[in-house]
Amino acid sequence: MSPKSPAKVRKVVFPVAGLGTRFLPATKVIPKEMLTVVDKPVIQYAVEEAIEAGIEHFVFVTGRGKNAIEDHFDLAFELEATLKARGKTAEIEILRTTRPLYGAASFVRQQEPLGLGHAVWCAREIVGNEPFALALPDMLIHGQPGCLAQMIETYNTHGGNIVAVEEVPHEHVNRYGVVALGKTFDKRTHSITAMVEKPKIEDAPSDLIISGRYILQPEIFAKLELQKPGAGGEIQLTDSMIELLADQAFIAYQFDGKTYDCGDKIGYLAANVAYALDRPDIGPKFRPVLDALIRG
Ligand code: G1P
Repeated sequence: MSPKSPAKVRKVVFPVAGLGTRFLPATKVIPKEMLTVVDKPVIQYAVEEAIEAGIEHFVFVTGRGKNAIEDHFDLAFELEATLKARGKTAEIEILRTTRPLYGAASFVRQQEPLGLGHAVWCAREIVGNEPFALALPDMLIHGQPGCLAQMIETYNTHGGNIVAVEEVPHEHVNRYGVVALGKTFDKRTHSITAMVEKPKIEDAPSDLIISGRYILQPEIFAKLELQKPGAGGEIQLTDSMIELLADQAFIAYQFDGKTYDCGDKIGYLAANVAYALDRPDIGPKFRPVLDALIRG
């Protein structure tokens, strides 16, 4: 590695403490991140995206009632022993590829739902003094390669902080963090000059929203530690990124891919349909069923 190469991104943080009230009653007992898109929990897509990007350690910021996530990424000893006794090798392989290596996953609890910024801050001891990736699993991103892999490549060229962005209809900008762009490096890569969390539609500096994937420098933690509540009375990550923008470069990366906001019922249903149609083992059988449903 040349002396100029930025420090390697080895860890990813997944904030998974949210209550999932928009999906009640499904999420009364089951964490919303364990709801399935086709046959895989939403959180697993994000973990696989991180693995594809070369990430080595997975940090889950969980909360009460989220034990199923920890169990999902553990070895299910009795299940695997039973499958082995029955000669179910394909199923064993599915489970094997689900598990991080021994010691490669950490779980920390966000004890109070104080906001995304607070959830990220709860990971500070595990992340330590190194750059890290952050992925909000609700935002399911279908891309080849995945969004995080694209971002790591951009980070290897530019260093600093990278924020995945995408354009949304103007009337939706108030639901997200929004960026303002400065210098263009290439058609997908621009410097960020300003950010705002959940602006009024008329105040948004652009239609480019923060899409739930970030590469951040560890100096963000000192900003988060002092962060006052912002939009919605919550400690907002975007507000601490705005402060860090005074000291460090932030790049907006317009990834190649399609986002499904699985925090929303329509986005979640769309993800199920799109991922099912895309699956070689399911798509060809599902398409005529879907066509017939639509035709009524
Ligand atoms: C969070 C971020 C926001 C981002 C969004 C993407 O908001 O604060 O900047 O645009 O995720 O989903 P939340 O969805 O937690 O309200």
